[in-house]
Amino acid sequence: MIIKYTAPLRGELSIPGDKSISHRSIMFGALANGTTEVTHFLTGADCLSTIACFRQMGIDITLEENSQGGHVLVHGKGLHGLHSPSGILDAGNSGTTVRLLSGILAGQSFESTITGDESIQKRPMKRIMTPLLAMGADITSLNGNGCAPLLLRGKTLHGTHYDSPVASAQVKSCVLLAGLYADGITSLREPALSRNHSELMLRYFGADIKTGTDTAHTDFTVSVTPDPLLTGQKVRVPGDISSAAYFIAAALLVPGSELLLKNVGINPTRDGMLRVCQAMGADITLLNEDHSGAEPCADLLVRNSNLKAVEIGGDLIPTLIDELPILAVLAAFADGTTVIRGAAELRVKESDRIAVMTENLTRIGCPVEATPDGMIISGGKPLHGTTIDPHKDHRIAMSFAVAALACSGEMDILDADCVKISYPGFYEDLGALRNQKK
Ligand code: S3P
Repeated sequence: MIIKYTAPLRGELSIPGDKSISHRSIMFGALANGTTEVTHFLTGADCLSTIACFRQMGIDITLEENSQGGHVLVHGKGLHGLHSPSGILDAGNSGTTVRLLSGILAGQSFESTITGDESIQKRPMKRIMTPLLAMGADITSLNGNGCAPLLLRGKTLHGTHYDSPVASAQVKSCVLLAGLYADGITSLREPALSRNHSELMLRYFGADIKTGTDTAHTDFTVSVTPDPLLTGQKVRVPGDISSAAYFIAAALLVPGSELLLKNVGINPTRDGMLRVCQAMGADITLLNEDHSGAEPCADLLVRNSNLKAVEIGGDLIPTLIDELPILAVLAAFADGTTVIRGAAELRVKESDRIAVMTENLTRIGCPVEATPDGMIISGGKPLHGTTIDPHKDHRIAMSFAVAALACSGEMDILDADCVKISYPGFYEDLGALRNQKK
């Protein structure tokens, strides 16, 4: 895929559905009694992997695509309605599928094995194995390396309290889902608040979820009561702020651009990108603020802006963890030195995002230093197009497609179709906005 600057970006874009919320709508719909209707579902490869896994366990799921994204009907069979999968469950590239599903599988009355692609088989699963083992689960990493494939022999689980060393929504959600099958209340404390879509949606389906924080806001606790009656619901998935992020960045960087991004989820556990962009001097206005179920959303009006460097760290990190690659691109074009710290989690995403961003920012001429938990980026130098190797990481491919619009020359992105993981229509949407007249 070759990309270069042609024209300012103008017009409106409806952002595809949120990936995290789409996954959860299938999982919770499958465990509920009755039908769950999901609209504006993300039809990216990761969410399709979740659908395939539940179909393998006997859940009838229909998916149609229309101009509003995916329209899904999940015919749930209740908490105890899954049956033994027809073969090994394949999560593809999706960490959310492996980690959340493991919480469900641990409490079933059958045995199952779950795995995924080459990248998934390198990602750490001890972070979910440790709390599940503490709840009495029987879970084994078949290669003995703490990664997938995971073998789960379903067991009665025990309610317990887990102090999570990482602020991870995947760990939190895994424990909450296992807690649905436990013999007592299960609770988890995390060091900073990670995305809370599971809490909001489980509650919406009828689960008893309690959340709290201490007065100093230094830790965050969530608990779940076992064996709730979950009931199928209507879910309208808001646009994914993690996908909107590329168009926010493109509009900010390309002179003369102005974009209206429609129906973007602005849950405060996900909106760190907006806060950081505003601190960098971005012209972003929120319009038509509303709710999609329990999830807040808005239209975002974004105009080309001169950006300055910032420091990004602390409790902000979980609220923008997936946006750090595109924020690093913004930093490369901003005046001054941006420091990202406290983001060691980037090293265990779909790729080692600190290493892969550093490699590719260096290739376009940006002085950047990788640190164990972040990057130091000297912005504002003239940058040029080149060949980019995103290491098959969708968010890195999209970040450099945007960078291309503000670089001299052409950018050649290898394995560019990896964007299908979270945004199958990304290049088409980008192309359409570049051809709009004012
Ligand atoms: C996700 C949680 C985050 C995020 C991932 C999706 C989720 O991962 O990076 O893309 O849907 O719960 P961690 O829980 O590992 O931080």
